Amino acid sequence: MEAEKIHILRKAEEFARSVHENDASGHDWWHVKRVSRLARMLAVFEGANAFLCELASLLHDVADEKLNDSKEAAIGRLEAWMAQAGVDRDDRAHILSIIANMSYAGGTGAGMTTLEGKIVQDADRLDALGAIGIARTFAYSGWKGQKIYDPSIMPRDHMTRDEYRKGESTAINHFDEKLLKLKDLMNTDAARLLAEGRHQGMQYFRKAFDNEWELGNEAY
Ligand code: ADP
Ligand code: NI
Repeated sequence: MEAEKIHILRKAEEFARSVHENDASGHDWWHVKRVSRLARMLAVFEGANAFLCELASLLHDVADEKLNDSKEAAIGRLEAWMAQAGVDRDDRAHILSIIANMSYAGGTGAGMTTLEGKIVQDADRLDALGAIGIARTFAYSGWKGQKIYDPSIMPRDHMTRDEYRKGESTAINHFDEKLLKLKDLMNTDAARLLAEGRHQGMQYFRKAFDNEWELGNEAY
């Protein structure tokens, strides 16, 4: 990779770190760093543009509505940051379109048309799976004020974006509503392979939770 691109990536790391440093909603700097490393690895496997995958990953959550008062203003700040950092016009447009298409609640990823976008989406979804995915779910749930579990709140097959935003659910329901579906939504073969092991760990946890809940709540 050219020296200029390496320099841009380094500056993007600093920028993303400053945005995510104090986050406790599961969108902390370490999430961003893992996504960028996973995306770099997937880019090698899939023969994609590694610079774009890594840069889009580093920036993928800086304009997230959970971290910003106004999404529009945050997108404006991101655009300005990319321009002054020396990211060229085509790359800026590509990265903004990837970020706009990232959200799960926004659909199944059908809007993600480029290989680089598919890779960043896969990397972000991989970080929602496995042991780290479980930890992030409970961190997010606590941050949002959701319950661990409540048998009277049923999981929904499909949540609209508004319902998803309102968080009308429980941490355990989130496994059934989203997390256990993610492995079948992976775009690339390399991510599908990695998702399989993480999915199994998550499924084991989900079953163990049910077993312990039943035993603990059984009337003797
Ligand atoms: P990202 O912004 O990284 O694309 P999300 O905002 O969808 O992803 O989710 C971030 C983390 O928070 C994920 O690990 C996810 O499982 C968890 N999370 C998101 N929504 C909920 C929810 N309604 N209940 C519990 N955990 C959630
Ligand atoms: Ni993310």
